Amino acid sequence: MDVKKVAVIGGGTMGNGIAHVFAMSGISVNLIETKQEFADRALSTIEKNLDRMVKKEKIDEAKKSDTLNSISVFLNVNKGVKDVDLVVEAVPENLEIKKSVWKQVDEAAPDHTIFGSNTSSISITKLAALTSRPEKFIGMHFFNPVPVMKLVEIVRGLETDDETYNVVEATAKKLNKVPVPVNDAPGFVSNRVLMPMINEAIFCVGEGVATPENVDEVMKLGMAHPMGPLRLADFIGLDVCLDILNVLYEGFKDPKYRPAPLLVKMVDAGKLGNKTGEGFYKYD
Ligand code: 3HC
Repeated sequence: MDVKKVAVIGGGTMGNGIAHVFAMSGISVNLIETKQEFADRALSTIEKNLDRMVKKEKIDEAKKSDTLNSISVFLNVNKGVKDVDLVVEAVPENLEIKKSVWKQVDEAAPDHTIFGSNTSSISITKLAALTSRPEKFIGMHFFNPVPVMKLVEIVRGLETDDETYNVVEATAKKLNKVPVPVNDAPGFVSNRVLMPMINEAIFCVGEGVATPENVDEVMKLGMAHPMGPLRLADFIGLDVCLDILNVLYEGFKDPKYRPAPLLVKMVDAGKLGNKTGEGFYKYD
């Protein structure tokens, strides 16, 4: 199957980036949000990121308007998924929200539609079991900023069939991304490796080993990371980091994944990183 039309559910940081890359590769996008103001915000972020690409001469004005014209907004899941080949769900990492979304999608999508979730750590097998077609359910895990990062971690649930995997792999390549297959396990590969590093960096700050700036300098200059782990934690969202660490901790029942007390405290205080204006750093 050639994916010609996709529904992206959720227009937040990940959802708007996902809609951006699908639309730019010539695939029509139904962008589904709960409120017009959220959809408007997603579209204006996509436009801003396309402008950035025009300025860098990666695309021209015509490509920018074609991309924007390929995106239609829906405020209703049932209508937004009724004629699509693939659904990519990028709603908040909350099982109750995902349950309600997948129930609606399952009822309204055509029989051939493949179901993909951009979850960063919830079990694909568990999400697949919420639907009547677990063999057509798969993880499509994108990375922030989606228009820039090349990886799509493609996560096979227990029942995902080969045909679904092959279609999703080919689609990721069409987006000019590099698909990497992994099997379903807490945190997949990306977050199972990344989050303990971020957590350890937070332990270093909490124990007074070094300041956030100095922890980040060590990792940038010594390990050639483009961003230090604490700047990256702010960029991802400290609440998201905490949620993923809890999934690892509970999934493996291994104390090595316990979230750093300073991370818990910062989330309790509402210091979530870039999105709230303060995390380990302050943002305008
Ligand atoms: N849309 C389009 N282009 C963008 C962009 C966006 N949102 N953000 C940055 N860019 C482009 C810039 O235009 C620039 O293009 P150029 O190379 O042609 O000049 C390029 O990306 C680099 O951007 P900047 O020059 O503005 O800034 P930096 O060089 O500091 O790079 C960064 C910014 C790409 C974010 C880089 O710091 C980086 O790679 N950081 C690490 C990001 C990372 O690890 N992401 C993964 C997070 S984990 C995740 O998402 C999984 C989840 O489950 C938690």
